[in-house]
Amino acid sequence: MPGQAVFQDRTDSALLRRSFRKSLPSAVRGDGAYLWDANGKQYLDFSGSAAVNFIGHGVNEIVTAMTDQARGLEFIHGSQFTTPIAEQYASELLQFAGDNFREGAVYFCSGGSEAVEAALKLARQYQVEIGERQRTQIVSRDQSYHGATLGAVAVSRNKRRREIYRPMLREFATVSTPYCYRCAYDCTDGCFNCGQEYAAEVEQVIADSEDTVAAVILEPVSGATLGAVVPPKGYLEKVAEICRRKEVLLIADEVMSGMGRTGRNFAVDHWSVTPDILVAAKGLSSGYAPLGALIISKKVVDVIASGSGSFIHGFTYSSHPISLAAGRAVLNHIAQHSLVETANSETDGSIAYTLRENLGRLLDLNAIGDVRGIGLLWAVEFVANRASKAPFPTETNFCGRVAQAAIARGLLVYPVQGCVDGDLGDHILIAPPAVISKEQISWVVEQLVAAVEEASVRP
Ligand SMILES: Cc1ncc(COP(=O)(O)O)c(C=O)c1O
Repeated sequence: MPGQAVFQDRTDSALLRRSFRKSLPSAVRGDGAYLWDANGKQYLDFSGSAAVNFIGHGVNEIVTAMTDQARGLEFIHGSQFTTPIAEQYASELLQFAGDNFREGAVYFCSGGSEAVEAALKLARQYQVEIGERQRTQIVSRDQSYHGATLGAVAVSRNKRRREIYRPMLREFATVSTPYCYRCAYDCTDGCFNCGQEYAAEVEQVIADSEDTVAAVILEPVSGATLGAVVPPKGYLEKVAEICRRKEVLLIADEVMSGMGRTGRNFAVDHWSVTPDILVAAKGLSSGYAPLGALIISKKVVDVIASGSGSFIHGFTYSSHPISLAAGRAVLNHIAQHSLVETANSETDGSIAYTLRENLGRLLDLNAIGDVRGIGLLWAVEFVANRASKAPFPTETNFCGRVAQAAIARGLLVYPVQGCVDGDLGDHILIAPPAVISKEQISWVVEQLVAAVEEASVRP
């Protein structure tokens, strides 16, 4: 296939590939919003890989910060040393997270799943230390994704990524996620009022549990599984209020939505919601190094510090100096280039505003039922029938066909199936780097229209 380095059969690669059914091009270079493969083919990275890259590819100052750190000190173990980079970066990240986290603390690890695991264990330890030993449950939401490790899979409700592991998992109670395009409460007002009904589910589950819930974990703006679903006004505020009243910790998983992606430092800032623990990864290092973090409120840190005195958890690579150098340089770059403002889709003239306006044009296509999102995190949901909102049969793999047609045009998007019920439903996730230009956005939308039309006529 021209432009693609194709692996012909299984023995062509020593890697355990993500898919043995798909041939992947070999990527060799990135710059700005573009990636290139070994054959010189250019791709516009309209999904920031998987909502990872926020600052653009190939930013030299990040590489310099990492090499400087590696030359001076590549690694220490957290039981023996702290480092200047860890201390400086943690303090800057707390400031970035805002007033709610003043005098809180940061725990660094190597990615989103590790950060979610650490958050679940920290919530449990907090409850034990305040004498609430019976609190062992974590409430999560339908159609959520919190990571690939078994604890994270237990609280995730992405059916395809969970099903075969179910017998190995602890099952916790779940609540619905407000998904206004297919509202469970049949509302007709854009979920203006039914946000309260969704929030009431949280209250009910906590009441039914007889004080055994330690924490509620949610993605403030849904990530890949449901596709950039933005909660109705009042919903998150109500959930936060219920958690506070019931002494249940609120964990906001902002692995995808955090670090400026939605046009605020963290997505919870849109609703002035104050979680007890924020989980960050992906945009934290923009992909320059493996990095995740918990940003923990003073309330939780104080309990551990004045109680047992240590968090009973640890990874060898926590606070890895080279990853932290990448993260700190990325944070500095975000501030220097006002990238959070660039990602604000409410500001007339911003890149995110241009993206929102341009994506709106896609609703002219028959195969597109919904375009939703905020900032630089969007999804386009495909339907076989716009009036009934009937999805395409799963086996037609409509979103996969759109993504393939887009790749042929040099455009990367992130196709996901299952938004309707875990099996049915097709969407693509859109999460470009904030350095994408207005011209690139118009080019992309033309290519997307062509890709959707092509996917619609193919058998
Ligand atoms: C919301 C959310 N949480 C957690 C994770 C897991 O992160 P990682 O893949 O870095 O382990 C992801 C990954 O997509 C995610 O989107």
